[in-house]
Amino acid sequence: MDPVAQMKAKVGQVSAQLVESGMTLGLGSGSTAEYMIKDVGQRWQNGELTNLTAVCTSFQSSVLAQGFGIPQQQLNDVDRIDLGIDGADEVDSNLNLVKGGGGCQTREKLVDSRVDRLVIVVDAGKLVDQLGSSMPVPVEVVPEAYRQVAAKLRDLDGDPELRMAVRKAGPVVTDEGNLILDTRFSAIPDPEKLESTINNIPGVLENGLFLNMADEVLIGHIADDGAVSVETRTRK
Ligand code: 5RP
Repeated sequence: MDPVAQMKAKVGQVSAQLVESGMTLGLGSGSTAEYMIKDVGQRWQNGELTNLTAVCTSFQSSVLAQGFGIPQQQLNDVDRIDLGIDGADEVDSNLNLVKGGGGCQTREKLVDSRVDRLVIVVDAGKLVDQLGSSMPVPVEVVPEAYRQVAAKLRDLDGDPELRMAVRKAGPVVTDEGNLILDTRFSAIPDPEKLESTINNIPGVLENGLFLNMADEVLIGHIADDGAVSVETRTRK
């Protein structure tokens, strides 16, 4: 297994141990969350966990949970979610995040903002000094407005690019049937302001800035000798 995959697998495994019987669980998306869902799924199948309900953040996580027979409910059907475990593309020193590398930011934000405790699982390569420095901010837009929204994002000094599909002609279409403008900013000095300004553009559904949401971040590290460890950072 390559080193990044080892770090992801380890944080996935450690985070899966946070799950307890009887919980309603927000299941995140992406390759790190996939490790977590598989470990939770195994604990469920061997009877170590009982009475779980999953609220999924994507088609991906729903299919994975279904494969293990974990019962699922829609967001509208649950009154509370005890624990959410999700991945991220960037994490800054305040535990603010950029998400949406998998194009699931709308449902991820809906679920992650509802959970009592949000745990983010990443490899050490996701740590950044400034949000937006290694990843563009994904902006989900309704298809009929993508050019109009792109122009508005340029007015904000962003550089939007329509995300294109791999092994399918044309753009990525999200689980909600929308398009994604991956938008690079040379700097994001005020993430709160940018998050709300983007979301106020007509035609925007949601963007990938996740601020003041993560309660804990589990970070996978790998040493020169190949030892893999997990660091926990907690929001102050
Ligand atoms: C999907 C996400 C993912 O959590 C994020 O892209 C991290 O993915 P990975 O664990 O594969 O690096 O936000 O929309």
